[in-house]
Amino acid sequence: MYNYLVKLKVIGENILSDLSRNLEQEIKRRRTFAIISHPDAGKTTLTEKFLLYGGAIAQAGAVKGKKSARHATSDWMEIEKQRGISVTSSVMQFQYEDYCINILDTPGHQDFSEDTYRTLMAADSAVMVIDASKGVENQTRKLFKVCVMRKIPIFTFINKLDREARNPFELLDQIEQELGIATYPVNWPIGCGKEFKGVYDRHNRHIMSFAATGGSHQVAATEVDLSDSSLANLIGSENHSNLMDDIELLDGASDEFDMEAVNCGLLSPVFFGSALTNFGVEPFLENFLKMTTSPLGRNSSQGPIDPFDDKFSAFVFKIQANMNKAHRDRITFLRICSGKFDKDMEVFHVQGNKKLRLSQPQQIMAQEREIISEAYAGDIIGVFDPGIFSIGDTVCSPSCKFEFASIPTFAPEHFERVYAKDTMKRKQFVKGVTQIAQEGAIQIFREPDTGMEEVYVGVVGVLQFDVFDYRMRNEYNVELVKEGLPFSYIRWIENKDIDPKELKISSDTKLVEDFSGNYLLLFTSEWNIRWALERNEGLILSEFNQGDI
Ligand code: G4P
Repeated sequence: MYNYLVKLKVIGENILSDLSRNLEQEIKRRRTFAIISHPDAGKTTLTEKFLLYGGAIAQAGAVKGKKSARHATSDWMEIEKQRGISVTSSVMQFQYEDYCINILDTPGHQDFSEDTYRTLMAADSAVMVIDASKGVENQTRKLFKVCVMRKIPIFTFINKLDREARNPFELLDQIEQELGIATYPVNWPIGCGKEFKGVYDRHNRHIMSFAATGGSHQVAATEVDLSDSSLANLIGSENHSNLMDDIELLDGASDEFDMEAVNCGLLSPVFFGSALTNFGVEPFLENFLKMTTSPLGRNSSQGPIDPFDDKFSAFVFKIQANMNKAHRDRITFLRICSGKFDKDMEVFHVQGNKKLRLSQPQQIMAQEREIISEAYAGDIIGVFDPGIFSIGDTVCSPSCKFEFASIPTFAPEHFERVYAKDTMKRKQFVKGVTQIAQEGAIQIFREPDTGMEEVYVGVVGVLQFDVFDYRMRNEYNVELVKEGLPFSYIRWIENKDIDPKELKISSDTKLVEDFSGNYLLLFTSEWNIRWALERNEGLILSEFNQGDI
């Protein structure tokens, strides 16, 4: 009997140790990154090539629509199709070699950089795609600043070398000057456009030569050593001599490769290639996967949470309603931060102070959704949400009740006063405005002591107004009356011991209240902010309502 019990114990221990080994292996092979770019730089094309390598799609064009339909299938909303911009971000998972990769697509337009920021909270690194002929573009700047705030590793893919491109030294210089990050070219382009001959791999000191074969959509790549005598023939003697000069300059002048600096977001490894012709994409993916880490821990009210901890934990970084017109639903996206998720497990929703089971857990591949039974730290899962979650919420095993650090809100810079044209539609108006605000797509305020017949809508980028208006009409069937307001600055009143209604403020400053009962002031100029601070001794105003960005 005793022997039998000992045997059982050993079997039990073995199973447990197998499970934890399995957990560790599964988490270690995960990579979760966001992809950012100015619209048209080639983000969708690059993502598609990644998916092709991973076998997640069978042919090019599966992610991207036809030429006439300028949108990717990861763009859900009609408005995105009409404007050809990506408003919301989507998530895709695929396997490549031993890796399990989660790509978080982000809106390309700066007006939605708040959404990008939230998405970056769920990523462990970011890939920045830059058009080689255009360099750093307007909308990349704001998105990039958002990345820097998160201090996450940024990998740069300079795309479209098969077209005329700017000088690569100039491009790197621009990234360094304008974005304030050091660069380390991992490979180096040889010529561009019709003269594009390939890239030089600085680590292995060999050349991957580029030869278009029948149209620009295919390419033959050959590898040649830098010391190979046939090299000058292969790439042309002028290109060869330019390359030798460039290498000398690069080896002498560029920053040393420092993985620590990469991990802190201070140094960006740079790759050159052409996503459309599939040139340089796989070496980029392979290097990127080797250089990036497995899922990183996140800070919580109980200190850092280790991703390898066997207790499940996750936070909400995105909520999206009505993704699919056929099912009027609301999906909440969670980034798993530790342990393993099982579909039938009971979890604790910290902010709601409630135990629950997550309903219809799914992973999303562009428009297709797949119900999943398990997921690990690093993964993103979407769950059906009856309206209980808010951005930043924590969900974890019932035995560990901590909260993850909150996701800060950006200060809106544009404001409108909004109400329903048809007063009979009050109920739909309130529902629409509340839900869209819960998703973080807009921020809403009201005049103190008033109801919700009329709200002040604040946004970071004006296109968010269009999306809000469109969604109210199409999803909630409410025609809006909107009045633009002259305010550009918002400040939360930090003092809890004063009556905000007694404050001395200029006639063009407005006192409003958010829906958590906090008081705020809307200002038309910085001058007015100073005016208010000078006239009201001890007044404390803050730009963000939670945490610091
Ligand atoms: P985005 O998601 O960043 O907005 O860019 P997207 O991939 O949609 O690419 C924008 C345009 O640039 C597309 O052309 C795409 O084919 C092209 N492109 C992407 N990568 C490369 C590249 O490496 N070389 C060249 N020459 N072109 C590239 P389009 O004509 O606007 O659309 P389509 O006809 O390809 O659908």
